[in-house]
Amino acid sequence: MAEIYLDNSASTRPYPEVNKLTSRVQSEIYGNPSSLHDMGLEAEKIIREARRQIAVVFGGRENEIIFTSGGTEANNLAIKGAAFRHRRRGSHLITSVIEHPSVLNSFRFLEKYGFEVSYLPVNSQGAVNPDDLKALIRKETILISLMHINNETGTIQPLGEIGRMIREINPEALFHVDVVQSFGRIPLRLKEWQVDMAVCSAHKIHGPRGAGSLWSRKGTLLEPLLHGGGQESGLRSGTENTAAIAGFGLAARLTAEKMRQKEEELRVLKLAFFNELQNSGIKFNLNGPAPGEGAPHIINLSFPGLRAEVLLHSLEERGIHVSAGSACHSRHPEPSHVLKAIGLDSENLDSALRFSFSVFNDKNEIIAAAKETAEAVQELRGII
Ligand SMILES: Cc1ncc(COP(=O)(O)O)c(C=O)c1O
Repeated sequence: MAEIYLDNSASTRPYPEVNKLTSRVQSEIYGNPSSLHDMGLEAEKIIREARRQIAVVFGGRENEIIFTSGGTEANNLAIKGAAFRHRRRGSHLITSVIEHPSVLNSFRFLEKYGFEVSYLPVNSQGAVNPDDLKALIRKETILISLMHINNETGTIQPLGEIGRMIREINPEALFHVDVVQSFGRIPLRLKEWQVDMAVCSAHKIHGPRGAGSLWSRKGTLLEPLLHGGGQESGLRSGTENTAAIAGFGLAARLTAEKMRQKEEELRVLKLAFFNELQNSGIKFNLNGPAPGEGAPHIINLSFPGLRAEVLLHSLEERGIHVSAGSACHSRHPEPSHVLKAIGLDSENLDSALRFSFSVFNDKNEIIAAAKETAEAVQELRGII
């Protein structure tokens, strides 16, 4: 049975070139990048090259890149680091109700330390209303954090409009964006959007697990969370994971190559999947933006009357791998906070699956997966 992997928002298959590079670096370039001898310098050179590759995709400079263990750590550093560093200016923070848990739980942590957090609602498509944000920003607001592409519904937030508005109302407030799902997949215009900090993760872009990065615009002051030898400009102490960082840099370059073309190809796959399911005649509902809009690689669907987990395992038996809710935290029995926030009723909440595509999928696979999904749904509904 051919395996069809449609859980690319959770994690991706590494490029073969990335695997080759990480294993070579792991076995051959084991010097400490902080050491002064030539083996240290060799490791340092590898990291410098990756820093350059990541900076290109962010549209920033090499000295603005801070390597971390992943997106979760980078979000924690950006949010807690900014809040603690700037608390003398104010203690008001803003985020949205549909953020990734690494963002939401960082804000909940800060609430325990006396910060006041405003949580923006979203509409039925998962988008925040810039006017709602406008009404919340005040003099004491020191940080606003919003994601670019939502990992469950594929909703894209209007970051350009939001960034301009933040600057008009409170030019001092820092603007942090989680671009884990968009990095290398769709164009980022962080400078134009007036973003101060952005976060990405290697394993979402066909890189290794265990590496991520915070881009922090020059001059943005942060309090480090990890104290030690002062690596990564003093913001993230600890010996760098040279092999994972090398693979991360290469994955960023390969992902962003021909970005527009790949974005279009992913969108074609997503539409083909959706159309094939519709033509099968099964009843299902779309959660989030229309298939032609939103992220090119994510579609979230509910199959009323079925339990998501049951359908997920039935698909797994057919070799198709998908997510119920968000894989980052889907072992939790609670329904998705994102799908709740966009107003799904319990029948649609309990039956929601996320299908997410990558450049490793092709059209034949996608059509086969849609046919199998339709068949599994009919079988479970007792139709066939
Ligand atoms: C939008 C978003 N932010 C952050 C993360 C966390 O990244 P990592 O798995 O590298 O910690 C994820 C992972 O699912 C994500 O989708």
